Amino acid sequence: MSNQKVNFKTEKELQKAVLQEKARGTPDIEIGQKYGVTFRYIEKLITKSQGVNISSFKVSKKVKTLYPKDFKEEQTTVWSFKQRGNWATHSGEYRGNWSPYIPRNVILKYSEPNELVLDYFCGAGTTAVECKLLGRKCIAFDINDKVIELAKKNINFSIETQQLTLIEEKSHPKVYEPKLSVGDARDLSFLQDNSVDLICAHPPYANILHYTDTKEGDLSFFDIDEFLKEMVKIAKESFRVLKPGRQCAILIGDTRRKKHVIPLGFKLINVYLDAGFKLRELIIKRQHNCKTTGFWYANSIKYNFLLLAHEYLPIFEKPKIPIPLSIRERGINYGLVIPTLEKPLLKKKLDELETTTVWIFPEKDFEKCLNKNIIDRYSNGRGYSTITFVSHFKNEMKFTERNIQKGKELLFIKSPFLSSNPSYANIEYYLKELKKIVEQDLSHINKGGFLVIQTQDLRIDGYMEPMAKRVMDMLSLDNLWLKEIVFVTKEVENSWTQGMDEYLNITHQYLLVYEVVR
Ligand SMILES: C[S@@+](CC[C@H](N)C(=O)[O-])C[C@H]1O[C@@H](n2cnc3c(N)ncnc32)[C@H](O)[C@@H]1O
Repeated sequence: MSNQKVNFKTEKELQKAVLQEKARGTPDIEIGQKYGVTFRYIEKLITKSQGVNISSFKVSKKVKTLYPKDFKEEQTTVWSFKQRGNWATHSGEYRGNWSPYIPRNVILKYSEPNELVLDYFCGAGTTAVECKLLGRKCIAFDINDKVIELAKKNINFSIETQQLTLIEEKSHPKVYEPKLSVGDARDLSFLQDNSVDLICAHPPYANILHYTDTKEGDLSFFDIDEFLKEMVKIAKESFRVLKPGRQCAILIGDTRRKKHVIPLGFKLINVYLDAGFKLRELIIKRQHNCKTTGFWYANSIKYNFLLLAHEYLPIFEKPKIPIPLSIRERGINYGLVIPTLEKPLLKKKLDELETTTVWIFPEKDFEKCLNKNIIDRYSNGRGYSTITFVSHFKNEMKFTERNIQKGKELLFIKSPFLSSNPSYANIEYYLKELKKIVEQDLSHINKGGFLVIQTQDLRIDGYMEPMAKRVMDMLSLDNLWLKEIVFVTKEVENSWTQGMDEYLNITHQYLLVYEVVR
């Protein structure tokens, strides 16, 4: 608690006053100013008193419309919803609930009407509500009895079968009441092997945000390593209960410690891959963050960090038959495309730099904007080297080398050949070469300088090859400390086209930013 503006004799009196304000519907910011308490203090107090982390005591459950207006299914690997969505009973009252656009897209893409969807981190029931609206059966549960009460209120609306058919004309869906209960995601023993058509779930991001007041089994009280250990059990059970050939969608974010990113997203992806899943899609969900101007902007530049504005939505698939890991060389000649690295504009304008982890640039100036942001932010104007992997044929890797001298601030490695459908053998070779270059050339970079690797995910034989994750898995060197994972994508006017492809169009690239610490 910080300096109080209204004085209270005891902490209890203060808490009572804050809760009364909440019940009256006073906004948190006003409560904070009046009583000199932080947002975190209010959140903790509510979670303790109500048993659930909600933002408001009074929420109207009057349904204005059952469906989102002008809804179009997502077609690329970058999903961005400016409005969180408030159709049916959806609202943002439960802190940390996901936008209903996410389960809606997942359910429509990876299940049919009348099939069974499982959400083992039910929360306020966003997935369950979408299942009811879309004519899917749903089993959803949560460790917190109080949030299940809230979810039960949220699924309590009426919908007629005719209203379902507005969405799925050809199939013959029925309305199914979701089955909600209290339960622990680590225990799926009540479900039979190969019985679920789709898993769609949103776990806590380790202990970033607490969902209960220390309820036993609540994974939001586990630190990263412990959290991942518990998720191993959940991933294994998910694999067991899912039907072969079907999907499991999990939303997860990264976190920060000591101004460096902790790649919780990639760590959790490893857990599900180890359980036997294949990666069908790796979707980047953009978070709309308004903290990009003024104070935040200045600090982002001053302390050299980016605001986390991304989450991952990996879509795992339980293979129908185990896929052999044999590596095949296809011998494709990719041609020699050498993208030139344009110099950044001489006059450095700080207000042109990106401040979050998602960078969106116009197509025509894409490379220029990207290079400028990297070079201006990470070379401090004191010099950089670049290496570009341009092509690969059989066992010969072609890359350009420039400016290799000692005392640089930045080594920037680009990998445009990855956009030319390389094979497994190509990428294994690329990773080997990349490691060699990094080990050799790191000595040219000053301590406190940066290594930046531009890379991108690929699709091989219908599965995603998560290249950024693979590069990161490979580069766990003592002298490198991961600072940022940045997502870069092109601004597209209207990416929606008629008819859906079986797979999403991969439209994001990564910049892995490492700080040289030794
Ligand atoms: C990110 S929230 C899910 C929000 C949900 N998607 C929604 O839209 O409301 C994570 C949920 O996991 C629950 N949880 C934490 N540990 C759990 C466990 N061991 N088993 C089941 N649920 C758990 C929390 O109570 C919380 O409601």
